[in-house]
Parts: sequence; structure tokens; C-alpha cells
Amino acid sequence: MKIAPSILAADFSKLREEIKDVENAGADIIHLDVMDGHFVPNITFGPVVVKGIRKLTDLPLDAHLMITDPEKYAERFIEAGSNMISFHIETVSSPEILIDKLKKKNVKVGIAVNPETPIKSALPFLDSIDYILIMSVHPGFYGQEFIPSVLDKVRDLKRSKEVEIEVDGGINDKTKEQVIEAGVDIIVSGAYIFKSENRINAIKKLRE
Ligand code: DX5
Ligand code: ZN
Repeated sequence: MKIAPSILAADFSKLREEIKDVENAGADIIHLDVMDGHFVPNITFGPVVVKGIRKLTDLPLDAHLMITDPEKYAERFIEAGSNMISFHIETVSSPEILIDKLKKKNVKVGIAVNPETPIKSALPFLDSIDYILIMSVHPGFYGQEFIPSVLDKVRDLKRSKEVEIEVDGGINDKTKEQVIEAGVDIIVSGAYIFKSENRINAIKKLRE
């Protein structure tokens, strides 16, 4: 199981130290929450910032695009240095075309699914993607409460398909157990890791 701290909850005035800190604490992946103020009611950062972050770490960068137009912008996040890229199934009318285009760029491609979106919307594409990102909060902000009902999707996927499963939102030392039990492969965690004094301990507790 891999741990992907979400820098959304980091202190952006010292991003270099924050990223080094979770890297030294045992993070496997750096999760980047890209928000456009349209698909979600918040705005974060774009490819320019990702390009800067690329210089700060050798860990894989996982760009989670919460934007209405991933067809237009996804490639720029790859050029900026992302190794994994996910777009929301709710935003794209022909996912297979976008998946094809992104796969050619030698990155891992994922589909993200909102809490209220049924998993069946992503099922036709599972054979052509590398991972599926199951949202366990409503996207937009860090520090929200975990929605346990989304774990049914994880269990269903685990039963039927060979695809990496990333769960994102509200995961901490209390909620992690049910996420692990359901069969998660990649845990995203923002507030729990970045707002804790001891990140080594926090990441260790998530893995236990
Ligand atoms: C929510 C983001 C998540 C979030 C995780 O829109 O996609 O990655 O920042 O942060 P926590 O773990 O605090 O919910
Ligand atoms: Zn995310």
C-alpha cells in the first residue's frame, strides 16, 4: 500500500520543506490537487506550480485534475512533470480518446469518481487505465469528513477488476482501517499528515 500526502494541506509558504519532510517521513507519492473554480468551488494551482514542485522531489507526482476541461489542459500537467494523472469521469464525454492521448505520454492514467457518481460510469474504461481514484469527500477542500458509503465501490472493484485503487479524502488514523479493509492500494491524505506535528508517526500510523 502506498501513501500519497496531498500538499493541499501543506504550508505553501515553505513548500520545499513540507515536501522534503513528508518524503523523509516515508511518503511514496506526492498528490497534487488541481482545482479550477468551475468543477469545484475552489482554485488551487496550475502547471507552472507543478513544474516548480517537480524540482523539489524525485517522488512520483500524482496530478488529480478537478477541472471541467481536462481534454484541454491535462497534457500541460504531464509536460510539467506529473507521473500520474487523473481526470474526473463527470467532466469528459469521450474518456477513451483522452485516455489514449495521455497513455501515449508514458504516464499512469487514472479516472476519478465523485462520491455520488456510480462506479458503473467508469467500468467500461477500467481495462485501459492504470488506477481509479475513489473520492471519499466532496472534492474542493482538505480536512473534510470521510464518507464511508463510497467504500462499497472499492469492494466492488476489488472483487471484479485488476486495477489500482486510490482513495482520497478524510483519511486519518481512525478512518484508515475500513479503507484498508476494503482493499485500497494508494491512500491520499492531506490534513491528517500535514497538520500533525510528527509526520513520520502519521504516515506510520496510516500504514499499520
Ligand atoms: C479534495 C482533494 C483531496 C484532499 C485530501 O478535493 O482531492 O486530495 O485534499 O485532504 P484530506 O485528507 O484532508 O481530506
Ligand atoms: Zn485529491
